[in-house]
Amino acid sequence: MMSEKQYATPFPILQAASLLSHRTRIQKFRQAITKIVKSDHHVIDLGTGSGILAILAARQGARVTAIDANAESLKYAKAAAERNGVAGNIEFVHSHFYDFEPKEKADVVLCEMLSSVMLIEQQIPASRYAVKHLLKPNGKIIPQQVTLFAIPVQNETLWNRFHIEDLKFPRIPQTVDMKQSIDLADLQELEKFDLTKDSDQPLGIDKHLNFEIVQSGTVHGIIGMFESKLYDDITLTMKDGWRELFMPLPESVDVKIGTRLDVRVSFNPGEYDSLIIEIE
Ligand SMILES: C[S@@+](CC[C@H](N)C(=O)[O-])C[C@H]1O[C@@H](n2cnc3c(N)ncnc32)[C@H](O)[C@@H]1O
Repeated sequence: MMSEKQYATPFPILQAASLLSHRTRIQKFRQAITKIVKSDHHVIDLGTGSGILAILAARQGARVTAIDANAESLKYAKAAAERNGVAGNIEFVHSHFYDFEPKEKADVVLCEMLSSVMLIEQQIPASRYAVKHLLKPNGKIIPQQVTLFAIPVQNETLWNRFHIEDLKFPRIPQTVDMKQSIDLADLQELEKFDLTKDSDQPLGIDKHLNFEIVQSGTVHGIIGMFESKLYDDITLTMKDGWRELFMPLPESVDVKIGTRLDVRVSFNPGEYDSLIIEIE
């Protein structure tokens, strides 16, 4: 009989496998890995999932250490490495990145824990940890930069998800397909993170954005999205497979064209319950 734990975590492996269908995302990583990874390199893949990035690096002849917090994903990644004839080049380690202490530092760290505004996944803290503890002094990390954007939107369907007749649930962030919400203002930059530096930039975001409303409607929340520079001119965008993140306001607000909307957006990347969204 399977243990409770084995039953409790089927989703991450299904999600890791579903990422294999994001072909332009993989193409761009492949381009960056081909450009950077050499056969005498030691590469660390943080959050290996299906093993795709570790396998691409091993194909370059590099020795790879592939880490994931999810044991089921690691089992799948190992089987994938065997199928591709590179299992001998990859050591798989079951660990949270904070607990991982490498026997040898890396020439290249690959870390793909991107999500719409880096609120839920661990991209920012994992990259910081990698630069500080896992990379050789002249080593390279991919991706190198992430820029976050925000926009006020109308999305009544998502707003109503949390109220079912006489039942009420707390509203929390939800992923949503692009173009499923109505944009009520132009996109604004929320934050930019340089992932190559052991930076002093505080991890937390606390921004006051001022939007000019370009379409009358009801603001139900803020949509978050991102763009990420992998290396040189290789850039990932939302079109490479990501869903947007809808962050609900505590109360919806009716707005008219030409009015200004002051919004405070505050959170610690990777800590989804730290989010505060307020109309000021
Ligand atoms: C977005 S997936 C990327 C998978 C794969 N690298 C790819 O590009 O398709 C992120 C992976 O990071 C792993 N992960 C998330 N948080 C982690 C943590 N704190 N420590 C180690 N792995 C983590 C997840 O289990 C998941 O497999």
